[in-house]
Amino acid sequence: MIKIERLFKFFGEHPAIVDLSFEVPQGKIFGFIGPNGAGKTSTMRILATLSRPSSGNASVGGFDVQSEQRDVRRIMGYMPDHFGIYPGMRVGEYLDFFGAAFRIPLAKRRGIIKDVLALTDLEQKRDDFVDTLSQGNKQRVCLAKTLIHDPKVLILDEPASGLDPRARIELRELLKTLRTMGKTVLISSHILSDLADFSDLIGIIERGKLVVTGAVQEVAKKYRPYRLLEWRFLEGAETAEGWLKSQPTVQKTELNDHRLRLEGNFNDEDIARFHAEMVGKGVKIIGCREIEANLEEVFMRVTSGGVS
Ligand SMILES: Nc1ncnc2c1ncn2[C@@H]1O[C@H](COP(=O)(O)OP(=O)(O)OP(=O)(O)O)[C@@H](O)[C@H]1O
Ligand SMILES: [Mg+2]
Repeated sequence: MIKIERLFKFFGEHPAIVDLSFEVPQGKIFGFIGPNGAGKTSTMRILATLSRPSSGNASVGGFDVQSEQRDVRRIMGYMPDHFGIYPGMRVGEYLDFFGAAFRIPLAKRRGIIKDVLALTDLEQKRDDFVDTLSQGNKQRVCLAKTLIHDPKVLILDEPASGLDPRARIELRELLKTLRTMGKTVLISSHILSDLADFSDLIGIIERGKLVVTGAVQEVAKKYRPYRLLEWRFLEGAETAEGWLKSQPTVQKTELNDHRLRLEGNFNDEDIARFHAEMVGKGVKIIGCREIEANLEEVFMRVTSGGVS
Protein backbone atom coordinates (compact mmCIF):
# COMPACT_ATOMS: atom_id res chain seq x y z
CA MET A 1 0.00 0.00 0.00
CA ILE A 2 2.96 2.25 0.74
CA LYS A 3 6.05 1.57 -1.33
CA ILE A 4 9.37 3.38 -1.20
CA GLU A 5 12.14 2.44 -3.60
CA ARG A 6 15.70 3.72 -3.49
CA LEU A 7 14.64 7.11 -2.19
CA PHE A 8 17.15 9.94 -1.76
CA LYS A 9 16.54 13.45 -0.46
CA PHE A 10 19.18 16.14 -0.26
CA PHE A 11 18.83 19.54 1.39
CA GLY A 12 21.62 21.33 -0.43
CA GLU A 13 24.61 19.07 0.12
CA HIS A 14 23.09 17.47 3.18
CA PRO A 15 21.68 13.95 2.62
CA ALA A 16 18.49 13.59 4.71
CA ILE A 17 17.39 10.29 3.09
CA VAL A 18 19.90 7.84 1.65
CA ASP A 19 18.81 4.94 -0.55
CA LEU A 20 15.72 4.20 1.50
CA SER A 21 13.45 1.30 0.50
CA PHE A 22 10.57 -0.30 2.37
CA GLU A 23 6.97 -1.34 1.97
CA VAL A 24 3.90 -1.26 4.18
CA PRO A 25 1.34 -3.87 3.10
CA GLN A 26 -2.36 -3.07 3.19
CA GLY A 27 -3.91 -3.21 6.67
CA LYS A 28 -0.59 -3.14 8.50
CA ILE A 29 0.83 -0.65 10.98
CA PHE A 30 4.47 0.26 10.37
CA GLY A 31 6.28 1.91 13.29
CA PHE A 32 8.94 4.31 12.05
CA ILE A 33 11.72 4.86 14.56
CA GLY A 34 14.95 6.81 14.55
CA PRO A 35 17.00 9.37 16.44
CA ASN A 36 16.31 13.09 16.03
CA GLY A 37 17.23 14.20 12.53
CA ALA A 38 17.26 10.63 11.14
CA GLY A 39 14.92 11.44 8.24
CA LYS A 40 11.46 10.29 9.40
CA THR A 41 9.63 13.56 8.82
CA SER A 42 11.43 14.06 5.50
CA THR A 43 10.23 10.61 4.35
CA MET A 44 6.68 11.21 5.54
CA ARG A 45 6.47 14.60 3.85
CA ILE A 46 7.47 13.00 0.55
CA LEU A 47 4.75 10.37 0.97
CA ALA A 48 2.29 13.15 1.82
CA THR A 49 3.25 14.87 -1.49
CA LEU A 50 4.51 17.97 0.36
CA SER A 51 8.13 17.52 -0.62
CA ARG A 52 9.80 16.01 -3.67
CA PRO A 53 12.45 13.32 -3.54
CA SER A 54 15.86 14.07 -5.07
CA SER A 55 15.67 10.63 -6.69
CA GLY A 56 13.90 7.31 -6.31
CA ASN A 57 10.22 6.41 -6.21
CA ALA A 58 7.45 6.42 -3.67
CA SER A 59 3.83 5.42 -4.09
CA VAL A 60 0.73 5.28 -1.92
CA GLY A 61 -2.07 2.89 -2.90
CA GLY A 62 -0.34 2.39 -6.24
CA PHE A 63 -0.31 6.13 -7.01
CA ASP A 64 3.00 7.83 -7.59
CA VAL A 65 3.64 10.66 -5.11
CA GLN A 66 5.14 12.87 -7.80
CA SER A 67 2.99 12.32 -10.89
CA GLU A 68 -0.32 11.40 -9.21
CA GLN A 69 -0.44 13.79 -6.26
CA ARG A 70 -4.20 14.32 -6.33
CA ASP A 71 -4.93 10.60 -6.19
CA VAL A 72 -2.49 10.17 -3.32
CA ARG A 73 -4.08 13.02 -1.36
CA ARG A 74 -7.55 11.56 -1.84
CA ILE A 75 -6.70 8.25 -0.21
CA MET A 76 -4.12 9.42 2.33
CA GLY A 77 -4.47 11.26 5.64
CA TYR A 78 -1.36 13.06 6.91
CA MET A 79 -0.89 14.28 10.45
CA PRO A 80 2.18 16.51 10.58
CA ASP A 81 4.44 16.86 13.60
CA HIS A 82 3.62 20.57 13.83
CA PHE A 83 0.34 21.95 12.64
CA GLY A 84 -1.37 25.28 12.42
CA ILE A 85 -4.61 26.00 14.21
CA TYR A 86 -6.86 28.77 12.94
CA PRO A 87 -7.86 31.18 15.71
CA GLY A 88 -11.54 31.84 16.35
CA MET A 89 -12.69 28.49 14.99
CA ARG A 90 -14.62 25.95 16.99
CA VAL A 91 -13.74 22.24 16.82
CA GLY A 92 -16.90 21.40 14.86
CA GLU A 93 -16.32 24.29 12.41
CA TYR A 94 -12.68 23.31 11.95
CA LEU A 95 -13.62 19.76 11.00
CA ASP A 96 -16.42 21.00 8.78
CA PHE A 97 -13.94 23.27 6.99
CA PHE A 98 -11.66 20.33 6.19
CA GLY A 99 -14.64 18.14 5.26
CA ALA A 100 -15.72 20.82 2.77
CA ALA A 101 -12.15 21.06 1.43
CA PHE A 102 -12.37 17.35 0.66
CA ARG A 103 -15.69 18.04 -1.09
CA ILE A 104 -17.76 15.93 1.29
CA PRO A 105 -21.41 17.02 0.74
CA LEU A 106 -22.94 19.03 3.59
CA ALA A 107 -25.56 16.39 4.46
CA LYS A 108 -22.92 13.69 4.79
CA ARG A 109 -20.46 15.92 6.66
CA ARG A 110 -22.60 16.12 9.82
CA GLY A 111 -22.56 12.34 10.31
CA ILE A 112 -18.87 12.03 9.52
CA ILE A 113 -17.93 14.80 11.95
CA LYS A 114 -19.96 13.08 14.64
CA ASP A 115 -18.12 9.81 13.92
CA VAL A 116 -14.61 11.28 13.98
CA LEU A 117 -15.40 13.24 17.15
CA ALA A 118 -16.51 9.98 18.78
CA LEU A 119 -13.47 8.10 17.49
CA THR A 120 -11.09 10.71 18.94
CA ASP A 121 -13.15 11.20 22.11
CA LEU A 122 -13.78 14.88 21.42
CA GLU A 123 -17.58 14.93 21.57
CA GLN A 124 -17.54 17.22 24.63
CA LYS A 125 -15.23 19.71 22.87
CA ARG A 126 -17.22 20.21 19.70
CA ASP A 127 -18.13 23.84 20.53
CA ASP A 128 -14.79 24.82 22.10
CA PHE A 129 -12.40 27.12 20.27
CA VAL A 130 -9.54 25.06 18.85
CA ASP A 131 -6.84 27.57 19.84
CA THR A 132 -7.92 27.41 23.50
CA LEU A 133 -7.60 23.62 23.75
CA SER A 134 -4.75 21.89 25.57
CA GLN A 135 -1.88 20.52 23.47
CA GLY A 136 -3.19 16.97 23.77
CA ASN A 137 -6.68 17.95 22.67
CA LYS A 138 -5.26 19.92 19.73
CA GLN A 139 -3.47 16.71 18.74
CA ARG A 140 -6.80 14.90 18.87
CA VAL A 141 -8.44 17.56 16.70
CA CYS A 142 -5.60 17.19 14.21
CA LEU A 143 -6.08 13.43 14.18
CA ALA A 144 -9.84 13.89 13.73
CA LYS A 145 -9.12 16.21 10.80
CA THR A 146 -6.77 13.58 9.33
CA LEU A 147 -9.57 11.01 9.41
CA ILE A 148 -12.30 13.23 7.96
CA HIS A 149 -12.17 11.94 4.37
CA ASP A 150 -11.96 8.31 5.50
CA PRO A 151 -8.46 7.79 4.07
CA LYS A 152 -7.23 4.26 3.39
CA VAL A 153 -3.69 5.19 4.35
CA LEU A 154 -2.59 7.21 7.38
CA ILE A 155 0.75 8.90 7.78
CA LEU A 156 1.09 10.04 11.37
CA ASP A 157 4.18 11.97 12.43
CA GLU A 158 4.57 11.68 16.19
CA PRO A 159 0.87 11.82 17.00
CA ALA A 160 1.54 10.80 20.62
CA SER A 161 3.84 13.70 21.49
CA GLY A 162 2.30 15.89 24.17
CA LEU A 163 -0.39 13.38 25.10
CA ASP A 164 -1.00 12.43 28.73
CA PRO A 165 -0.81 8.72 29.68
CA ARG A 166 -4.55 8.18 29.33
CA ALA A 167 -4.64 9.89 25.93
CA ARG A 168 -1.68 7.77 24.80
CA ILE A 169 -3.47 4.59 25.80
CA GLU A 170 -6.55 5.82 23.96
CA LEU A 171 -4.46 6.58 20.90
CA ARG A 172 -3.06 3.04 21.00
CA GLU A 173 -6.58 1.65 21.12
CA LEU A 174 -7.65 3.99 18.32
CA LEU A 175 -4.82 2.73 16.13
CA LYS A 176 -5.90 -0.85 16.75
CA THR A 177 -9.46 0.13 15.81
CA LEU A 178 -8.16 1.74 12.62
CA ARG A 179 -6.32 -1.47 11.79
CA THR A 180 -9.51 -3.50 12.19
CA MET A 181 -11.07 -1.03 9.76
CA GLY A 182 -8.40 -2.11 7.27
CA LYS A 183 -6.35 1.12 7.30
CA THR A 184 -2.68 1.08 6.46
CA VAL A 185 -0.63 3.20 8.87
CA LEU A 186 2.88 4.62 8.87
CA ILE A 187 3.51 6.15 12.28
CA SER A 188 6.59 7.70 13.84
CA SER A 189 7.10 7.95 17.57
CA HIS A 190 9.84 8.14 20.14
CA ILE A 191 7.73 6.16 22.58
CA LEU A 192 9.02 2.74 21.65
CA SER A 193 6.91 0.72 24.07
CA ASP A 194 3.79 2.21 22.45
CA LEU A 195 5.04 1.36 18.97
CA ALA A 196 5.88 -2.18 20.04
CA ASP A 197 2.33 -2.57 21.30
CA PHE A 198 0.48 -1.83 18.07
CA SER A 199 2.98 -2.05 15.20
CA ASP A 200 2.97 -5.09 12.93
CA LEU A 201 6.27 -4.02 11.44
CA ILE A 202 8.95 -1.60 12.45
CA GLY A 203 11.74 0.19 10.65
CA ILE A 204 14.66 1.89 12.33
CA ILE A 205 16.24 4.72 10.37
CA GLU A 206 19.53 6.42 11.14
CA ARG A 207 21.21 9.18 9.14
CA GLY A 208 18.69 8.63 6.36
CA LYS A 209 19.34 4.89 6.06
CA LEU A 210 17.10 2.04 7.12
CA VAL A 211 19.19 -0.03 9.51
CA VAL A 212 16.58 -2.55 10.66
CA THR A 213 13.18 -3.63 9.45
CA GLY A 214 10.83 -6.51 10.18
CA ALA A 215 8.16 -7.77 12.55
CA VAL A 216 8.64 -6.41 16.07
CA GLN A 217 9.19 -9.76 17.80
CA GLU A 218 11.52 -11.06 15.08
CA VAL A 219 13.63 -7.92 15.20
CA ALA A 220 13.78 -8.04 19.00
CA LYS A 221 14.83 -11.73 18.89
CA LYS A 222 17.40 -11.14 16.17
CA TYR A 223 19.20 -8.53 18.24
CA ARG A 224 18.96 -10.51 21.47
CA PRO A 225 19.29 -14.15 20.51
CA TYR A 226 19.59 -15.31 24.14
CA ARG A 227 17.13 -15.42 27.05
CA LEU A 228 17.39 -13.20 30.09
CA LEU A 229 16.05 -14.22 33.48
CA GLU A 230 16.06 -12.35 36.75
CA TRP A 231 15.89 -14.29 40.00
CA ARG A 232 15.25 -12.75 43.40
CA PHE A 233 16.54 -14.52 46.47
CA LEU A 234 15.92 -14.24 50.16
CA GLU A 235 19.04 -16.25 51.00
CA GLY A 236 21.80 -18.07 49.18
CA ALA A 237 22.26 -15.77 46.17
CA GLU A 238 26.03 -16.46 46.03
CA THR A 239 25.49 -20.22 46.20
CA ALA A 240 22.94 -19.95 43.41
CA GLU A 241 25.28 -17.88 41.23
CA GLY A 242 28.20 -20.24 41.79
CA TRP A 243 26.18 -23.27 40.76
CA LEU A 244 24.39 -21.63 37.82
CA LYS A 245 27.73 -20.47 36.36
CA SER A 246 28.72 -24.12 35.99
CA GLN A 247 25.71 -24.91 33.81
CA PRO A 248 26.56 -25.27 30.10
CA THR A 249 23.49 -23.32 28.87
CA VAL A 250 24.30 -20.31 31.09
CA GLN A 251 26.46 -17.72 29.34
CA LYS A 252 26.58 -14.89 31.84
CA THR A 253 25.52 -14.13 35.37
CA GLU A 254 25.31 -10.80 37.15
CA LEU A 255 24.56 -10.56 40.84
CA ASN A 256 23.32 -7.32 42.35
CA ASP A 257 22.35 -7.49 45.97
CA HIS A 258 19.78 -10.31 46.03
CA ARG A 259 18.97 -10.12 42.34
CA LEU A 260 20.65 -12.40 39.84
CA ARG A 261 20.47 -11.88 36.10
CA LEU A 262 21.08 -14.88 33.94
CA GLU A 263 21.80 -14.85 30.21
CA GLY A 264 21.88 -17.98 28.12
CA ASN A 265 20.15 -20.29 25.71
CA PHE A 266 18.43 -22.44 28.33
CA ASN A 267 14.98 -23.87 27.66
CA ASP A 268 11.95 -24.13 29.96
CA GLU A 269 13.09 -27.59 31.14
CA ASP A 270 16.43 -26.13 32.19
CA ILE A 271 14.75 -23.32 34.09
CA ALA A 272 12.54 -25.74 36.02
CA ARG A 273 15.63 -27.84 36.82
CA PHE A 274 17.63 -24.78 37.97
CA HIS A 275 14.80 -23.99 40.29
CA ALA A 276 14.63 -27.48 41.82
CA GLU A 277 18.43 -27.76 42.15
CA MET A 278 18.73 -24.41 43.90
CA VAL A 279 15.95 -25.24 46.34
CA GLY A 280 17.77 -28.52 46.97
CA LYS A 281 20.89 -26.53 47.89
CA GLY A 282 18.97 -24.55 50.47
CA VAL A 283 18.67 -21.40 48.36
CA LYS A 284 15.54 -19.42 49.22
CA ILE A 285 13.90 -18.12 46.05
CA ILE A 286 11.39 -15.26 46.11
CA GLY A 287 10.68 -15.15 42.41
CA CYS A 288 11.90 -15.42 38.85
CA ARG A 289 10.85 -13.45 35.78
CA GLU A 290 11.88 -13.45 32.17
CA ILE A 291 12.91 -10.12 30.68
CA GLU A 292 11.70 -10.10 27.07
CA ALA A 293 13.77 -8.41 24.39
CA ASN A 294 12.24 -5.02 23.65
CA LEU A 295 12.49 -2.25 21.10
CA GLU A 296 14.45 0.09 23.37
CA GLU A 297 17.20 -2.50 23.55
CA VAL A 298 17.25 -2.96 19.76
CA PHE A 299 17.23 0.80 19.26
CA MET A 300 20.22 1.28 21.57
CA ARG A 301 22.14 -1.49 19.83
CA VAL A 302 21.60 -0.42 16.23
CA THR A 303 21.80 3.36 16.54
CA SER A 304 25.06 5.00 17.38
CA GLY A 305 23.87 8.08 19.25
CA GLY A 306 24.59 11.72 18.53
CA VAL A 307 22.55 14.02 16.35
CA SER A 308 22.69 13.55 12.58
N1 LIG B 1 13.78 22.05 5.11
C1 LIG B 1 14.97 21.59 5.45
N2 LIG B 1 16.10 22.22 5.07
C2 LIG B 1 17.33 21.75 5.40
N3 LIG B 1 17.53 20.62 6.10
C3 LIG B 1 16.45 19.95 6.50
C4 LIG B 1 15.12 20.38 6.21
N4 LIG B 1 14.25 19.49 6.73
C5 LIG B 1 15.00 18.55 7.34
N5 LIG B 1 16.32 18.81 7.20
C6 LIG B 1 17.44 17.97 7.70
O1 LIG B 1 17.20 16.64 7.27
C7 LIG B 1 17.56 15.72 8.28
C8 LIG B 1 16.37 14.84 8.60
O2 LIG B 1 15.39 15.59 9.28
P1 LIG B 1 13.96 15.03 9.68
O3 LIG B 1 13.14 16.17 10.14
O4 LIG B 1 13.43 14.23 8.55
O5 LIG B 1 14.33 14.07 10.89
P2 LIG B 1 13.37 13.25 11.89
O6 LIG B 1 13.79 11.84 11.81
O7 LIG B 1 11.96 13.56 11.61
O8 LIG B 1 13.80 13.83 13.31
P3 LIG B 1 12.92 14.10 14.65
O9 LIG B 1 12.89 12.79 15.39
O10 LIG B 1 13.72 15.11 15.39
O11 LIG B 1 11.57 14.58 14.24
C9 LIG B 1 18.06 16.55 9.46
O12 LIG B 1 19.46 16.57 9.40
C10 LIG B 1 17.47 17.91 9.22
O13 LIG B 1 18.29 18.91 9.75
MG1 LIG C 1 10.42 14.43 12.70
